[in-house]
Amino acid sequence: MVRPRVFVTREMDRDALDAIAAHAEMAVWPEDSPPSPEQLREALRGMDGVLTNIMDRVDGAALEEAPGLKVVSQLAVGVDNIDVAEMTRRGIPVGHTPGVLSKATADVAFALLMAVARRVVESDRWVRRGSWRMAFHPNYWLGADVSDSTLGIVGMGKIGMEMAKRARGFDMKVLYHSRTRKPGEEERLGVEYAAMDRLLEESDFVSLHVPLTEETHHLIGEAELRRMRSSAILVNTARGPVVDGRALHRALEEGWIAGAGLDVTDPEPIAEDDPLLSMDGVVVTPHVGSASRGSRRAMCMLAARNLLAGIRGERLVHCCNPEVYDGV
Ligand code: NAP
Ligand code: GLV
Repeated sequence: MVRPRVFVTREMDRDALDAIAAHAEMAVWPEDSPPSPEQLREALRGMDGVLTNIMDRVDGAALEEAPGLKVVSQLAVGVDNIDVAEMTRRGIPVGHTPGVLSKATADVAFALLMAVARRVVESDRWVRRGSWRMAFHPNYWLGADVSDSTLGIVGMGKIGMEMAKRARGFDMKVLYHSRTRKPGEEERLGVEYAAMDRLLEESDFVSLHVPLTEETHHLIGEAELRRMRSSAILVNTARGPVVDGRALHRALEEGWIAGAGLDVTDPEPIAEDDPLLSMDGVVVTPHVGSASRGSRRAMCMLAARNLLAGIRGERLVHCCNPEVYDGV
């Protein structure tokens, strides 16, 4: 029997790769950097399935040589790198990995919030420079209060809810804004719905947890940053383009807001000479939200299951365009 052929666009968890290889002829992109669009198109020639990650642009052009592709399985929850509408038009289910990374990503969002508020990275750099000469001074290294402050969560989905749980442990008041109001979660998590303007005006910390879509592109721009408190800190673990980077730089430089913790930037990687990197009130991590060992392994196993289900013509465990199954 001819085995299905699949392409995996990066090395990943060995057990997940073994699970795939047990059922398919598998090719794995051997380099650490993503394949170029031309390389991806060539690698997909004649493939039945592909396992992608956020750096791979998957659109009609990428699939030119793969008319029989049965599934795209994304190793992430966000699928903004995939032209999902085009995949749906072609009847190709797109798998993704929600849930298994929510806690790990909220951990990083909260770590960034804490790091910027309490100046962890900035003071560590200062110590390493040999600047710690006086033992202690009451006016040294004052930072923002986290406990008893107000957190504004934008996008109350799986990660937003995990963020709310962490905030409660710090006695924070939590406001949220989301596309849909969630009365059940308000009760369960003790959070309060707020219009976007109110959330921006009243929050000491604003944490972004929306997917990147046409509606959320530059959701936080000059007008929104000007509404925030001059003492406020913005945390972005969603996607870089959800924030207008130029406006953010101006906001920090001119003191409209006090700081930012960014796990995602636009572009990625961030340019070495990006002015945000020279600012003390900014902490940047290299898109590591889901990069805990347990989460990453669970993501790889789930992406492998989605891929295998797709090449067998079975329903994916987590499919972000379930309309492909309509009428099946
Ligand atoms: P999710 O459960 O789908 O939650 C997203 C939430 O955003 C939903 O509640 C959604 O709508 C809300 N939303 C969507 N569009 C909106 C809009 N225009 N205005 C306001 N709210 C809107 O997804 P998740 O698992 O929490 O993941 C969220 C995003 O985090 C992913 O898409 C990805 O981009 C990013 N992420 C980053 C990392 C990292 O490593 N940094 C890791 C994982 C995920 P409703 O209110 O209607 O429910
Ligand atoms: C990571 O960024 C994800 O969307 O899972």
